[in-house]
Amino acid sequence: MVNIFFKTYGCQANVADSTFLISYLSNRGRVVSCENEADFIIINSCAIREKAEQKLFSYLGKLALLKEDKPYLRVGVIGCVASYRKRDIFEKFDHVNFVFGAKEDINVLRSYLANALEELETIKKIYYNDPINFPIKFRRDRDIEKIVVERCGGCDFECHSFLQLGQKKLNKLEETGRKKLKRAFVNIMTGCNNYCSYCIVPFTRGREVSYKMKQILEHVKGEVKGGVKEITLVGQNVNSYSDPDSGAKFIALLREVAKIEGNFWVRYISSHPKDMTKNLFEVMAENKDRFCRHLHLPLQSGSDKILKAMNRVYSVEHYLKIVDWIREVLPDATITSDIIVGFPGETEEDYQMTRKIIEKVRFDLIYSFVYSKRKYTTAFNYPDDCKQEEKLSRLYALQERAKEISAENNSKHIGSVQRVLVEDRLKNGRLWGRTSGNVLVHFDGRDEKTGTFVDLKIGKADRVKLEGVLVEKEI
Ligand code: 5AD
Ligand code: SF4
Repeated sequence: MVNIFFKTYGCQANVADSTFLISYLSNRGRVVSCENEADFIIINSCAIREKAEQKLFSYLGKLALLKEDKPYLRVGVIGCVASYRKRDIFEKFDHVNFVFGAKEDINVLRSYLANALEELETIKKIYYNDPINFPIKFRRDRDIEKIVVERCGGCDFECHSFLQLGQKKLNKLEETGRKKLKRAFVNIMTGCNNYCSYCIVPFTRGREVSYKMKQILEHVKGEVKGGVKEITLVGQNVNSYSDPDSGAKFIALLREVAKIEGNFWVRYISSHPKDMTKNLFEVMAENKDRFCRHLHLPLQSGSDKILKAMNRVYSVEHYLKIVDWIREVLPDATITSDIIVGFPGETEEDYQMTRKIIEKVRFDLIYSFVYSKRKYTTAFNYPDDCKQEEKLSRLYALQERAKEISAENNSKHIGSVQRVLVEDRLKNGRLWGRTSGNVLVHFDGRDEKTGTFVDLKIGKADRVKLEGVLVEKEI
């Protein structure tokens, strides 16, 4: 059997793509958790910041050593960097067999991978039969689309639809030794039309395409039947979802998801403040047990001047109005955000405006980044006279304060009972899970608790987590 290893960098959309491929391939090969055991390595790459791209390149460099010991090893790069650096990757890394970008049809990739695995199984046997005289030459598949169309006669791949996943394949996943699934990421759309001036995603993932609501609902039902307890609906901008069949919007999709039977939670990510409506929070409030009490609402900057330069198309005032709606309709919801520090033209004054909004909203968690210049984006050519050290010192100060606020928010949970979906056991022997508000909780318990909902009485809190004690009652 062929051992497959997936390395996934980046956002939930990449995680969803990788899980989709893993689910499909797991009954054609064995999914392993370490690259040293792998015969086939697939790297799902992220291009959002330069650092993420550098990580891919240094990882690829390391894999060359593995290939020396295992000449039949196959390596493929997929995802966002693959979308626009195919030629560079091929030129720099002799051991990469194929490159397939995030903009292209994932069903084509899946079909190619299924075939490549079969082929590799034979090649592996030939190698172990006589390693010294291993005759197979390294092969590069430059045009996967062409290979797949030639192989299957050019069907439209609907026949391989990921919706056929469901119970059987998920059971198989468990049989193959993977832990019981607790969370699943379901892509409801791909691409983005927003063209925020700093962001490479519209260029790596292409223009927005929503998947059919019928297929999404089938996918969710399949996951729930298979034992999944938490579904995250994923899109670069879920609020602009539109069913290609009926034109139904995101709120309609949420209402339909709410009707699916079962004991499971639903999250969604990411939202764009320009498209948020109060109605959305009302639908979440109407379905209290289904929709998690967590909103991830990227602010990016607290200065209208910078927001405009970022092409975010909302004002700080509008953002604060949304926060008010959330507090009114979902008072116990946590709010998290993304902030970019050091965007071209950001003065100390602009930065202080961001700090002011952080004090006002008191986010439960902030993901913050120093602006990274990305090719193809509008901001690439913006003049920037702020020094990197200054940007870094702004970032660290913001992060320090954000952590203090997280700790203060977390401490408010002390004494409360929180429902938690249990994820796994930590190295220190304790179990961990997340609340509906996506706050991490550690506690002591038995293995059977993993993958289930438990109620925990919260006794301690710090910047990153809560600690609780089981309130014993079956849920
Ligand atoms: N530089 C820094 N941060 C970025 N992000 C997106 N593009 C860039 C960039 N060029 C951040 C945004 C986005 C998050 C996923 O990554 O904050 O919300
Ligand atoms: Fe990038 Fe903006 Fe689209 Fe988000 S909404 S993916 S930040 S372009």
